[in-house]
Amino acid sequence: MVMSRPRRKRGVLSLIFRRRSIRIFREARPSRDILELLVEAGQRAPCVYQSYTVVNITKPELRDKIYGLTEDNIVKQAPILLLLCLDVRRTRMLFDILERRHILARPPNPIEMVEAIFEAGLFAENLILAGEAIGYSSVILDWPLRLGGDLQNLLHIPEGVIPLFFICMGPPGENPPPRPRMPLELILMSDGYAEPKREQLLRYLEEASEKLAAEGYFMKYVGVRSTYMEYLAEKIRSDREMEVLEAEVSEFLRRNGLSI
Ligand SMILES: Cc1cc2nc3c(=O)[nH]c(=O)nc-3n(C[C@H](O)[C@H](O)[C@H](O)COP(=O)(O)O)c2cc1C
Repeated sequence: MVMSRPRRKRGVLSLIFRRRSIRIFREARPSRDILELLVEAGQRAPCVYQSYTVVNITKPELRDKIYGLTEDNIVKQAPILLLLCLDVRRTRMLFDILERRHILARPPNPIEMVEAIFEAGLFAENLILAGEAIGYSSVILDWPLRLGGDLQNLLHIPEGVIPLFFICMGPPGENPPPRPRMPLELILMSDGYAEPKREQLLRYLEEASEKLAAEGYFMKYVGVRSTYMEYLAEKIRSDREMEVLEAEVSEFLRRNGLSI
């Protein structure tokens, strides 16, 4: 039986298609029950070793210190601030119980580490969608990857537990339009791979730039007048500063057991 095109206005599909990253939140005091519901929903995602841990950061003095490291208002303003960590430490303890000579004692572990990162992503998206279902929007912030050691020290997180991302959540205080995505033909292929054409990629970049300009995206969130293409070019530029940062992050990840 061939299914007709499913309607996107119902149930989970509506949540998925309605979700946008929200960077301005209304005030709220989420209860412990709400937090536990969100994290348990995250845990229902497909998993391998469940190599993730979330730290709920509530104390204003900790939030202030994180603001000091990031100068990002969201870390102070979001009703829920979660730090998603890759927990190689607990996975190693689990393996220690099972086998004296196990693979994590012999890095690199490309299969386990790629799977661990992947399952942390599935956990995060489940948690984010559960948030949407109860009226809590969210945004992911990538500061932790750049601040690894500083956040470990601040929050007394031991070696082997790697800060990856913040997930900031709360009732939305803004209602932005849907953000651009690549056209389906660049993402969905049948029975093989079709190389994207340069013109298709350029057209996508131009269209995305136009849509984000219409939203006033970079002025609103970053306070700059750049286009998406200019912003992206700046973000990915390889210079000496970037080289140093990437070498530091690589070393931090390796020291903490993420060795691919
Ligand atoms: C791995 C990852 C890291 C992200 N880091 C940031 C960030 O540091 N700051 C931010 O404002 N948004 C961040 N985002 C959110 C994206 O900017 C956002 O999802 C994207 O622009 C698409 O917008 P939408 O979620 O509203 O569809 C991140 C998203 C992902 C998946």
